[in-house]
Amino acid sequence: MAEHLRLGVNIDHVATIRNARGGYHPDPVRAARMAVAAGADGITAHLREDRRHISDDDMAALVTDIPVPFNMEMAACDDMLAVALRLRPHAVCLVPERREERTTEGGLDAVSNRSLLAPIIGALGEAGIRVSLFVEPSLAQLDAARDLGAPVVEIHTGAYCDAAGAARQEELTRIQAAARHCQDIGLECHAGHGLTYETVGAVAAIPNIMELNIGHFLVGEAIFIGFEASIRRMRHCMDEARSAGIGG
Ligand code: PXP
Repeated sequence: MAEHLRLGVNIDHVATIRNARGGYHPDPVRAARMAVAAGADGITAHLREDRRHISDDDMAALVTDIPVPFNMEMAACDDMLAVALRLRPHAVCLVPERREERTTEGGLDAVSNRSLLAPIIGALGEAGIRVSLFVEPSLAQLDAARDLGAPVVEIHTGAYCDAAGAARQEELTRIQAAARHCQDIGLECHAGHGLTYETVGAVAAIPNIMELNIGHFLVGEAIFIGFEASIRRMRHCMDEARSAGIGG
């Protein structure tokens, strides 16, 4: 059987709901603990420049209070670098960020932003933080990530999830090729964005993808079946596809 596929649960949108009213409920740290109990191998949160969901206090509590590796998503800028070096999460995933976007809309352009990314990747790496770059399934982006010294990439699955029919299959083929290329050039390959029960299987079946990061759908499903149940069901979809090896 293929190696265990890790599930990172992104709890940003627990904070979105809390912030709709202010105050403390629902608490993202409680949600993170619940996610671990339901089978999450890691927790992810994105500290945005505008702090629209996760706050600095949430980040500090998540780094110290949860028993699994914590992955901080952040923009590649000096302010966020300072936060990461203070908090020392297990991992940082560098993402592109535009203030007006609703979610992370595309991958980081590692090819054109080498001089901006190099010092940030270097500083995080020196601090012992495992760095990943969130990129489109493009071989040029993967080569740039490798040249920059990032040990990990996370492939953006948004275009695959948004597409239908033949176009979705084409996007899947791009992700499969990207995952193979990661293996060839020595990058650890993760994937995420927009994944649901329906779309997760074909990605989970790609044998050298080691981790999926999933958030919005799980928090949305929690309204209908509960947070733990939504995570357990996602875990089940991932494990079934992984052991069947479909789409690999
Ligand atoms: N991976 C990265 C790098 C992301 O920015 C996000 C969204 O915050 C996700 C995964 C999770 O995406 P979703 O919330 O659509 O599952």
